[in-house]
Amino acid sequence: MIGFIEIAYFLASLSFVIGLKMLSHPDSARKGNLLAAIGMGLAIILTIAGEKIHNLGWIFAALFVGTLLGAVSARKVKMTAMPQMVSLFNGMGGACAAVISLVEFAHHPELQVSLANSTTAIILLGMLIGSVSFSGSMIAFGKLQGYKAIEKPVTFPFQKMFNTILLIITFGIGVHILFNLSNPHQASGLFYTMFALSLLYGILFVLPIGGADMPVVISLLNSFTGVAAACAGFLYSNMVMLIGGILVGSAGTILTVVMCNAMNRSLVSVIFGTFGGGGTAAAGGGASGDQIVREISLTDAAILMSYAKKVVIVPGYGLAVAQAQHTCHELDNLLEEKGVDVKYAIHPVAGRMPGHMNVLLAEADVPYDKLFDMEDINSDFASTDVVLVIGANDVVNPAARKDPASPIYGMPILDVDNAANIIVLKRGMNAGYAGIENELFFDPKTKMLFGDAKSSLLKLVAEVKQN
Ligand code: TAP
Repeated sequence: MIGFIEIAYFLASLSFVIGLKMLSHPDSARKGNLLAAIGMGLAIILTIAGEKIHNLGWIFAALFVGTLLGAVSARKVKMTAMPQMVSLFNGMGGACAAVISLVEFAHHPELQVSLANSTTAIILLGMLIGSVSFSGSMIAFGKLQGYKAIEKPVTFPFQKMFNTILLIITFGIGVHILFNLSNPHQASGLFYTMFALSLLYGILFVLPIGGADMPVVISLLNSFTGVAAACAGFLYSNMVMLIGGILVGSAGTILTVVMCNAMNRSLVSVIFGTFGGGGTAAAGGGASGDQIVREISLTDAAILMSYAKKVVIVPGYGLAVAQAQHTCHELDNLLEEKGVDVKYAIHPVAGRMPGHMNVLLAEADVPYDKLFDMEDINSDFASTDVVLVIGANDVVNPAARKDPASPIYGMPILDVDNAANIIVLKRGMNAGYAGIENELFFDPKTKMLFGDAKSSLLKLVAEVKQN
């Protein structure tokens, strides 16, 4: 018979699914997050209440400390530091899954002697994946946090081969434990060796990846954590844990694939770092040195926008760096008061994490109906008077369309070069994430307004007020 706890677990699982669905739109995302969090809270409380647990004091102390740390750090974190926070939290999930496997292995000596069973396989898998996710996420956190020793890709000769051999050995030990061993002592020594090698693999797997590729890797590690958590759910026959793990695993995998597609890259090229990495070289798709950069004065830029019918704002990574979202919204309000139609064009990988621009603009209370996805706005550029590009670079680089030699060739871009006028706000002529020049900046229709995006926008706001 279905009991109270199964029904509650079903409701909690349902809240995860509905919460995830609600996360797909900025309007409902907050409520979706809250709904899934309530479902998770319900699942935790019911699990504690439904099991014969003796160490309640420890459990509630850990819950209290975890909740406090999570709530305070989530409130304090800067938007630009969000990827490393996600990485840290994800690493904790991986660590939990690995610890569950360690504890269960030690608690079940009988498993170690009759090893060829599914429980042992799940323990080994959960330990391996959880450990890789934990140590990999910690390295990703360190890179994004700017720790000097690991910030740049750390490489050494024959690295790919070394990593592959390490992974094969780690798996091999697991298979050996599972099928060949009957001595608990032997199994235990090898189990902890496998644990140490899994941690090492996680570190070596993330070390060679460039800092700016981290969002893709974090998303991949996130899916690993989901799978490891699902293993733990399987181990305990706990449906809500299993479903939660599967949802995290599949959502992380889908996000990884979507990000790679939007960047027109394969996952293998992300993992082995054959693109980007924060360089500034003018490789591929570059403009020749004798092309002219045209600057525009603040007054002319303000006049051009104030008397336009239609302005499209293209935010990019530089807007996030400058924290200029509030000033940007102030400018768009001023222009609208003057009767200008203002829209925002959002590229799926603008910035450095999925939905970066949506979150940034939502923070400044830019209404969602002003935000348009790339596929919906690209046809509008031909009838746009002024495009204001704020700290975006790769996502508006025409080389992606025209130059097969460019590393970003094939990546869908915002077709801003179809507009009548383009104003670009950036500090200098530095390349973006892909490390390549952008011929848009040399287009006769393009005018550069050099400076930090926030200070340029503040000055533009003042000028527009005078027009
Ligand atoms: P980018 O191509 O990275 O260009 C950002 C530009 O902002 C730079 O050229 C920089 O030029 C300028 N900038 C930096 N700080 C600024 C400031 N304070 N004020 C004004 N400008 C500033 O950015 P994008 O167009 O948003 O493209 C995103 C890139 O990241 C893509 O290549 C994408 O594939 C990659 N990526 C995205 C993600 C996700 S999920 N979003 C994940 C990994 C990688 P100056 O230094 O000259 O100012």
